[in-house]
Amino acid sequence: MTIERSLVLVKPDGFQRGLTGEVLRRIEAKGYTLVGLSILTPKREQLAAHYAEHEGKPFYEPLVEFMSSGPVAAVVIEGHDSIKGFRSLAGATNPTEALPGTIRGDLGRDWGLKVQQNIVHGSDSPESAAREIDIWFPGL
Ligand code: RTP
Ligand code: MG
Repeated sequence: MTIERSLVLVKPDGFQRGLTGEVLRRIEAKGYTLVGLSILTPKREQLAAHYAEHEGKPFYEPLVEFMSSGPVAAVVIEGHDSIKGFRSLAGATNPTEALPGTIRGDLGRDWGLKVQQNIVHGSDSPESAAREIDIWFPGL
């Protein structure tokens, strides 16, 4: 067994709608452990580092705008295969396509905006997780 950590964000839409508890409930019900938790309104520079891979894409500016629009809950979760496991809990990027039973499928919808507001972020690989945890929780 390898203990793996993943960086989860409850995005401004999820936080504003009062879904932070529901997201944390699903993470804990799945069996993962919470090892870091913080509420903050992200600065542009922090988001530029976090979303470096998306720089130049059409949705990049709207994404940074959206993500800096209000508080988020930043969470580090821990457990065997938790990176893939949380991506399964979250569901597909597009909430219209995300399957019922997933966070985005049950709680999200397409609002017809320039960027998908889809409630949560989850790291997509061990390398991304290490990089992102260092950005949001330096030293953890
Ligand atoms: P995340 O990084 O938030 O866990 O989501 P993801 O891996 O499923 O999606 P990714 O491709 O990394 O995109 C990051 C976030 O940008 C927004 N997005 N909107 N065409 C669009 O409207 C569009 N494409 C991407 C979403 O908020 C997505 O989660
Ligand atoms: Mg991603």
